[in-house]
Amino acid sequence: MKNAILTVLTIFIAALYACSGIQEGKTLFESKCAQCHKLEVSLKETRNLEEWTKITQRMSGYSDGGITVKEAEKIAEYLAKK
Ligand code: HEC
Repeated sequence: MKNAILTVLTIFIAALYACSGIQEGKTLFESKCAQCHKLEVSLKETRNLEEWTKITQRMSGYSDGGITVKEAEKIAEYLAKK
């Protein structure tokens, strides 16, 4: 019984954690990715995580330090799941 509660709790916390990561990616995306072109450029595209990672890393390069590698990863995660 104790184990079952623990399992449910672990899953719940993991889900919360995953959601907050994606939420963070969304916030970063909205604040960092509309500086040079519209957000639509990205929102209309459906790509997987690998492709988004490549694109966001490239954008990070253009941004001249405005978007860090870590931020680019979070944005890629959000965009792959949006
Ligand atoms: C410093 C300016 C700048 C910023 C900031 C920027 N971009 Fe871009 N973006 C560009 C330029 C320039 C191009 C066209 C050249 C290219 O595709 O490499 C482009 C093209 C794109 C494309 C189309 C390219 C393709 O291969 O489909 C997407 C999608 C994109 N950007 C997404 C993003 C995302 C997501 C972010 C935030 C992480 C972002 N951009 C931030 C300058 C920027």
